[in-house]
Amino acid sequence: MQTAESVGEMYRDAWSRFATGVTVITTVEPGGAVHGMTASSVTSVSLDPPLVLAVIDESRQSHGLIESTGRFGMSILDSSQTDIAKHFATPPESRGNLHSKHITHLSGTPVIANALAAMDCKVTAAHKAGDHTVFIGEVESIEIGDGDPLVWFQRQFGRFTDRNTTSDSD
Ligand SMILES: Cc1cc2nc3c(=O)[nH]c(=O)nc-3n(C[C@H](O)[C@H](O)[C@H](O)COP(=O)(O)O)c2cc1C
Repeated sequence: MQTAESVGEMYRDAWSRFATGVTVITTVEPGGAVHGMTASSVTSVSLDPPLVLAVIDESRQSHGLIESTGRFGMSILDSSQTDIAKHFATPPESRGNLHSKHITHLSGTPVIANALAAMDCKVTAAHKAGDHTVFIGEVESIEIGDGDPLVWFQRQFGRFTDRNTTSDSD
């Protein structure tokens, strides 16, 4: 029989096999400091209006900050930004300082500098689902960058490699 514990482990294992890109969700603390968390449970929802969703654990500090500010930035990370992803995946009390050069602003909302893309989002709905909340954000500004995606697969950061690509020498 599968116990609740083994179902939880299998659930985690199953989803660790789902490769995703990596984003940082940014918010602003009451004192004005930039707060961020690494997030892969995000997706595009609608084109007209442009809506995204982010699924955030109720225990994250970002959860309360998104609720209270009603805004968040979403930055899609480049493969060179693993250190930034690790920084914002570490519990806030254990993080070191992140150099200010990694933060920029898009329509007043903090986002990650040199990301593949960044969006400034206004929360339009929040749906509680189990121990997480699905925040829906309307995208009000977009910035597009260049590069290769940072990928999260089986609890590791990596790069996208196209195995079907053949070079002239093949
Ligand atoms: C690749 C990766 C993706 C993550 N995605 C999410 C996510 O979508 N939602 C979530 O609640 N936590 C996610 N986390 C965990 C948070 O990044 C982590 O708990 C962070 O410390 C939360 O910060 P905060 O408490 O300052 O908001 C992810 C962690 C990693 C390494």
